[in-house]
Amino acid sequence: SILSADFGRMADAVQSLTKWRADLVHCDVMDGVYVPNLTFGMPMVRDIKKYAELPLDVHLMIVRPERYVKEFCKAGADIVTFHPEASEDVAGALAAVKAEGKKCGLAVNADKGIDMVLPYLADVDMLVVMTVQAGFGGQSFKQECLKKVEELARIREERGLEYIIEVDGGVSSKNASLVSASGASVAVAGSAVFRAEDPALEISQIANCG
Ligand code: DX5
Ligand code: ZN
Repeated sequence: SILSADFGRMADAVQSLTKWRADLVHCDVMDGVYVPNLTFGMPMVRDIKKYAELPLDVHLMIVRPERYVKEFCKAGADIVTFHPEASEDVAGALAAVKAEGKKCGLAVNADKGIDMVLPYLADVDMLVVMTVQAGFGGQSFKQECLKKVEELARIREERGLEYIIEVDGGVSSKNASLVSASGASVAVAGSAVFRAEDPALEISQIANCG
């Protein structure tokens, strides 16, 4: 996640992620309403796209994301996820992302259950299970949230569905094996990578933990 990168040198951060062999660039979009923090919008996604050789995984922590999902796709997002309780048209927003030929997903905040995503499991490409309360990087990992990953992985097998599960928040090489064992296949790390002595080593330890 570029949330912990130097916003004054974002192109360098994005190019470093390629050098450090990350799989995705997780872009945390915050509007100061759904979460008490403000980060960036479509212009930043558009501009980092020029420097990113990796897919952009855009995580919308904004109210009424249906207003912007199409613009984020056109700006360069390859995956767009949002929080269902913040949307007045979940099905419409998911369909709009698909209509742009991009991957869509829903995010489950740390203080939310999985009930709000259950009606859409056949429509999403990815589910994001937050292991911190959305809003800030550098928070400590909430291991109890992994129960939601296990539940969603079980439902996926039972119903023969194919969504992937991403864990987002407080992830590092210290807890990545727990993340992998719970059934997630994508781990987002912001501060663990950008504060690491050796970011490439941190990324490889997270990637090779499963
Ligand atoms: C939190 C963000 C997460 C996360 C990234 O709202 O959605 O992507 O905090 O930062 P770290 O890895 O530092 O928790
Ligand atoms: Zn995120």
